Amino acid sequence: MTNVRIVIAGFGNVGRGLVKLLLDKDELIERQHGLKIEVVGVGDSSGFVYRTDRPFTRDELSKMLQLPRGGLAKSGMGHVTHDICKVLDYTIPDFLIDLTPANYETGEPGLTYQLEALRRGIGVITANKAPLVLRFRELTGLAKRRRVPYGYRATVFGGVPIIDVLKHLAAHSIKKVEGILNATTNYILTRVFFDNYTLNDAIEEARKIGVMEANPALDLEGIDAAAKITIIANTLGLDIAFQDVERVGITALTEDYIQELRRNKKCVKLLAVLDVEKKKAKVAPIELDISDDLAQVKYLLNAVRIETDYNNILIKGVGGGPLETAVNVLSELIELAQRWLS
Ligand SMILES: NC(=O)c1ccc[n+]([C@@H]2O[C@H](COP(=O)([O-])OP(=O)(O)OC[C@H]3O[C@@H](n4cnc5c(N)ncnc54)[C@H](OP(=O)(O)O)[C@@H]3O)[C@@H](O)[C@H]2O)c1
Repeated sequence: MTNVRIVIAGFGNVGRGLVKLLLDKDELIERQHGLKIEVVGVGDSSGFVYRTDRPFTRDELSKMLQLPRGGLAKSGMGHVTHDICKVLDYTIPDFLIDLTPANYETGEPGLTYQLEALRRGIGVITANKAPLVLRFRELTGLAKRRRVPYGYRATVFGGVPIIDVLKHLAAHSIKKVEGILNATTNYILTRVFFDNYTLNDAIEEARKIGVMEANPALDLEGIDAAAKITIIANTLGLDIAFQDVERVGITALTEDYIQELRRNKKCVKLLAVLDVEKKKAKVAPIELDISDDLAQVKYLLNAVRIETDYNNILIKGVGGGPLETAVNVLSELIELAQRWLS
C-alpha cells in the first residue's frame, strides 16, 4: 500500500465534491489501486487547516463537509495559517490539489500555491485554469525540471479527459481542434435555436438555474472558452497566449438574425476553434446546419472535434459540474500517484 498525502486548496463545490468522493471510494482506491489517500491540509478563503501529526480522519473530513463556506479557519480542526509555504513545509504532501477560483488577471491565489508546491518537488493537480492560461510554459517547465507530475486534465471539459486524448495522438498531425467548450452558452443557444426562447429569456433562465458563472462575462463573452482553447493550444506545443485568442461573445446576436437562421434550418454555437497549421485560435458564434454533429450537442453537453491527417474524432459528454470535475481530479490523482509513487 502506498500512502499519498494531499493538501486541497479550495473547499468550494469541487473541493467538497473531492472530499465526498474520497470518503465514498477510499476502500475501492485501496483495494483496486493500492493507494491510501491521506488529506493533511485543506484551505478556503478563511485560511488553511492542516495537521502534522496524522492525516485528517474520516470523521473530521465528514465534519468539514458540514461547515459553511469560509468556515475552515474557525473549525478548530488543526493548525491554521494563510501561508501556503508553512502548510507545504510542515505537512510535506506528495500533491497539492488546486481548486481555488480562476482569476485571469493575476492567476492568484492558485499561481503562487502551484509554484511553491512545484519548487518544493511536490506534484500539482489543478482544475483551476487561470495559472495555466497565464503561465503555461513556466508551470509545466518547472514541473519537468523538478521531475514532478503536473496534472491539469480537469481544466478543460471538466468531466471528460480530452487533454489526455490530445496527448495520446503523438503520431497524428492534428490540423484543427474545434468544439463547444462552455456549457452555459450551449444551454442558452440550445434554448434559443431549438426551444424558440428569446436570447434574453434564455440568459435569464441560465442565471436562475445556477449554471452561469458569478461573473456572467466569463460565459457570455467567451472568456472561459478562450481560456480552455489556450490550454489546448499550449498542450499541443503552440505558444498561443490568452490575449491572442480572437474572442466574440453571444450577447450581440439580434432577434432578426436568430429568426432568419431558424427559417433556414441553421443555428449558432459558440465555438472555440484552433487552427493548428495557422497557429491561430478564436472563440466566436458560428453558424451551423442543424444536422451538423456539433449542432446536435445540446444543453449542458460539451463536445470537441479533432481533425487529424488520419482521423476525425468527436468527443461529447458532460463538460463540467462539481462532481464530474472532482471525479476527473481524483482519477488523475490516482494515475499520477501510481506512476510516480508506487
Ligand atoms: N464547478 C465546476 O463545475 C468546475 C468545472 C471545471 C473547473 N472548475 C474550476 O475549479 C475551481 C473550483 O471551482 P468551484 O466551482 O469549486 O469554485 P468555488 O465553489 O467558488 O470554490 C472555490 C474555493 O476556493 C476557496 N478560496 C478562495 N480564495 C482562496 C484562497 N486564497 N486560498 C484558499 N482557498 C481559497 C473558496 O473559499 P470559500 O469557500 O471561503 O469561498 C472556495 O472554497 C475553479 O477554478 C473553477 O474554475 C470548476
